[in-house]
Amino acid sequence: MGSNASDDQLHPPSSSSLITLTNPSPAELPKIFTLSHPKWGPALTLQDYLDREVYLTTVPLSKNGGITHWLLTLSSSPEPERPILASCESIKKRAFYTTPTGEVREGVAHGIASVFTDPKYRGKGYASRMMSDVGEKLKTWQSGGEDRPVVFSVLYSDIGKGFYAKHGWAPFQSSHVAWTPAEPSGERSKGVKTIGYHELAELCAVDERLLRERLAKLAKADGGKKRHVALAPELDQLLWHLMREDFMTKHIFGMTPEVRGAVAGEKGRRVWAVWTRGYYGGLEKTEGNTLHVLRVVVEDEENASEEELVEGFKAIVAIARAEAKEWRSHEIQMWNPTSVVKKLVEKIGVEYEFVERDKESIASLMWYGEEAGEEVDWVANEKYAWC
Ligand SMILES: CC(C)(COP(=O)(O)OP(=O)(O)OC[C@H]1O[C@@H](n2cnc3c(N)ncnc32)[C@H](O)[C@@H]1OP(=O)(O)O)[C@@H](O)C(=O)NCCC(=O)NCCS
Repeated sequence: MGSNASDDQLHPPSSSSLITLTNPSPAELPKIFTLSHPKWGPALTLQDYLDREVYLTTVPLSKNGGITHWLLTLSSSPEPERPILASCESIKKRAFYTTPTGEVREGVAHGIASVFTDPKYRGKGYASRMMSDVGEKLKTWQSGGEDRPVVFSVLYSDIGKGFYAKHGWAPFQSSHVAWTPAEPSGERSKGVKTIGYHELAELCAVDERLLRERLAKLAKADGGKKRHVALAPELDQLLWHLMREDFMTKHIFGMTPEVRGAVAGEKGRRVWAVWTRGYYGGLEKTEGNTLHVLRVVVEDEENASEEELVEGFKAIVAIARAEAKEWRSHEIQMWNPTSVVKKLVEKIGVEYEFVERDKESIASLMWYGEEAGEEVDWVANEKYAWC
C-alpha cells in the first residue's frame, strides 16, 4: 500500500530539501510540549507541565534567549499548519577550554535537550536529520565572536551510545555512585553546615577559580596535547537546576526545600556538595525520583588532611541521605566522581553502588575545535552540566 501524494508532501523523506530546521513560534511551543508530556511530565498535569516549560524560559541561564527551541518542519508550509516533524532545545552556557599552548580560554557551549519525534513520525529519519542540522547550526549559534567562540555542545542520551555518536556527539564517561536514602543519624557532626540559596554565590566563585586552575595544570601536564574542557559551574547554572526543582516540589509537596547541599571544614580546606531533587514519577512512582548531587568540590586537594575530609564528606552524605528520605527520592546519585572523591566514598563506611551507565544519561560531546581529531578531556563531567 503506497502513501498518497499529500502524505508525501507533508512528510517527505528526511533527506528532502523541503525539510528545514527553524525555531517554533510561541503558538507552536505548547503543541511541542504537549507531545512530550507523557514522556517527561508524568509527575505533573499537562497544564502544570506546559506552565513549567514556559517558566523554564524565564529562569537564570535560559532567560533572555539563553534557551533556543528548535523545530524540524517543512519550509513550504505556512506556520499554523506546518507539521512538527521533530523538536529539541539548546541552552547557551559558559565554557572553558585549554589551547595547544596551555592557555585556559572562555568560550560558548550549548547543552541540547528534549530531542523528540512525534510517535506517528518515528523511524523516518527525522530526529537524525534534525541532529545533523542542529549540530551544524550550533557551531556558530550565539557565538561571542573570535574572543568567545562556540567550542562544543553536549547532550545526555537516554537511548544508548550509538544514535548520537553517529551524528557527531561522542560518548564520555557516564558513571555514578548511588546511595540509598536514610533517616538522619542522630546529632549532626560539628563543622558541617547546610547550603541554601544564600551560600551558593561564594561557593560557585571559588569553584570556578579552582576549576580554571585545574584545567591549566592538566594542560601543562600533557604539554597541550589534549583539549581539557569544562562547563562553568557558575551560580546561574546551579540556579537553573534549583529553580526547576522549586517548580516541581511546589507542585508535588506544596513547598520548596531549604537544604540544597552541605559544606564541611574551614574556609580554604572545605569540601562541599550541592544537590537537586528530580521528580519523574511524583509520589505515585517514587522509583522515578532521584536526589542528584550536582557538584562536589574539594577546596584544597593537596593540603587538606585526609581525616578531616573523610569526616566532612561523611557528614555531607548523611545530610544528603536524610534529605532524600524526607523528599521522597528513591536514591542519591553522584556522577563521575574524581579519584579524590572516589577515595572519600570508599572511606566513609556507607554502603554504595558504583554504576557504569550504558543506556541512560550518556554524557556526549561534540567538539567544534579548529583541528579535526583533537582529543578532548571533559573535566568536571558532573550532573550540574546536564539539561
Ligand atoms: C529517540 C527519538 C527522538 C528518535 O526519533 P526518530 O525520528 O524516530 O529517529 P530516526 O528515525 O532519525 O532514527 C531512529 C534511530 O533511533 C534509534 N532509537 C530510537 N529509539 C531508541 C531507543 N529507545 N533506544 C535506542 N535507539 C533508539 C533507532 O534504533 C534508530 O536507529 P538507526 O538510526 O540506527 O536506525 C524518538 O524515538 C523519540 O522521540 N523518543 C522519545 C523521546 C526520547 O527518548 N528522546 C531521546 C532523548 S535522549
